Amino acid sequence: MDDDVLRRWQRGWSVARQWTDYAEVDGVIVVRVGEPDRRVEYLATEQHATTAAQMAQSDANPAGSSWLKITTRSRPRVAAVLHPLELIRTERLLTISLSDQPSSQAPAPYELDVSAMPGLIDVELRTDGKTAASGRMAVFGADAVADVIYTAPPHRRRGLARAVMSALADAALDQGAITGLLSASPEGLPLYQSLDWSPVADLVVARTRLPSVG
Ligand SMILES: CC(C)(COP(=O)(O)OP(=O)(O)OC[C@H]1O[C@@H](n2cnc3c(N)ncnc32)[C@H](O)[C@@H]1OP(=O)(O)O)[C@@H](O)C(=O)NCCC(=O)NCCS
Repeated sequence: MDDDVLRRWQRGWSVARQWTDYAEVDGVIVVRVGEPDRRVEYLATEQHATTAAQMAQSDANPAGSSWLKITTRSRPRVAAVLHPLELIRTERLLTISLSDQPSSQAPAPYELDVSAMPGLIDVELRTDGKTAASGRMAVFGADAVADVIYTAPPHRRRGLARAVMSALADAALDQGAITGLLSASPEGLPLYQSLDWSPVADLVVARTRLPSVG
């Protein structure tokens, strides 16, 4: 179950980030990102956490640039397996039937801009010519993966992210998507809970350890 959801989320997430060079090796999805601080992402369920950790520790990338995301129902268990690595945070993999997400309009004076091409939707809310909130959704078959949902600090708690999520879901439904998937940061979690998204699993985020200074 986690295996299937993780794979489906990763496919959409990779499209949203334009990280399209990936392959599955020994139960671990290896996404070759190629950025200086993030050369690679290893994604796996807890069952394959040890393999993913070994891959990260034995690859040729600079310290701190190999990242892992491991799904689990028990964070302490995964933390023990990933022990030599640096634990960064725990996110939560969430899902929803897109048509069940409550719909919401952007409040005045914010203007909604939806830019949709097949498989990729970008939404912005603007005021005074500036972006106040934005988000992206990648559509992959029947799945739509939300990513980079953001509201600029002066515009928070006015319902903008809720309106962004609503516009993204509408556009994804128009493209034939049925199920929403996303990985929520601790900061984003209350937003998605307020929109009735359901938890699938925790996603422990780690990376190879940087050398200690001093
Ligand atoms: C998370 C974030 C996108 C929320 O944006 P926002 O425009 O302020 O959210 P909304 O005003 O639409 O909030 C909708 C609901 O979400 C919940 N919510 C949002 N922010 C919350 C917070 N800081 N604390 C508690 N609940 C919160 C509330 O239920 C809120 O409804 P209410 O204001 O009527 O109580 C914004 O704080 C942000 O950009 N954070 C940094 C980036 C980030 O973490 N993005 C999420 C990545 S997964």
